Amino acid sequence: MAKQPASIEPHDDPFQHVFSNAAHIVLKRLEHFRVLASTNAFVKARGEAGEDEGLVVLADTQTTGVGRLSRFWRSPLGGLYFSFLLRPSMLAPSEIQLITLAAGVAVAKVLQQAYGLKASLKWPNDVLLGELKVAGILAEQSLKGSEVEFTVVGIGVNVNTPLDEFPEDLKSKVSSLQEALKRSIDLPRLFGYLIGQLEYWYLRLRDKGFPAIAPHWRKLCNHLGRSVTISTPEGVVQGIAKDIAPDGSLIISSPTGKQILWSGDLDYPS
Ligand code: BTN
Repeated sequence: MAKQPASIEPHDDPFQHVFSNAAHIVLKRLEHFRVLASTNAFVKARGEAGEDEGLVVLADTQTTGVGRLSRFWRSPLGGLYFSFLLRPSMLAPSEIQLITLAAGVAVAKVLQQAYGLKASLKWPNDVLLGELKVAGILAEQSLKGSEVEFTVVGIGVNVNTPLDEFPEDLKSKVSSLQEALKRSIDLPRLFGYLIGQLEYWYLRLRDKGFPAIAPHWRKLCNHLGRSVTISTPEGVVQGIAKDIAPDGSLIISSPTGKQILWSGDLDYPS
């Protein structure tokens, strides 16, 4: 069996202060590592081994962080990388995107309320400052028959992240909290704020459903009413982004009529 990385001892780990907030569904157990391949992969393995919801796993850096569509997620020291395990029995497999959207609202609210930043959301999983990406969310699920067995939600935030770690083609598309605020950010404190908001928006989704979240997502979204292109495996769709559907799909009004897109890469035509 492969050797497991050793987690950081809780007694002097500043991230453990997170237990002082009221989160009790998203966060029951915290494991913090200096380095992991991917916190999503780590939590997925724990989910498969039968772990209860409430496990949060944090890594200071990841060697093979994973982004949406299996892309590489750069995870240098200075950023915040964590994943948590949920067993959302209220959601059908086709509704996993609702968790991504709820988590996006949580992250954007923290950036707005705790740091005074004008954060916005780009469907389906990007958190932006202006047009620059500052955080991403990756929700993955494991199914048992036609039901969701567990979901892993991973969040990566560029915090005190050196932007020269990004390749040339990405440098003009990303930002960090440090870059936006011109000061370095206390990572354990940011983590605490995020866990608090994630708990709030996840419980809202669980107890009241997506209609209780959609108005907040719409308000934070930076492209409703704008002309967009969506690249999908089947081709590029161009049109006006109209709304978010009850299952988290994006509704586009295109020259050929209304289109409902479940996934894709959203961009703005130049
Ligand atoms: C995206 O925008 O494409 C999603 C990025 C998600 C990255 C986070 S970092 C923590 C967690 N572990 C991973 O391997 N990925 C997610």
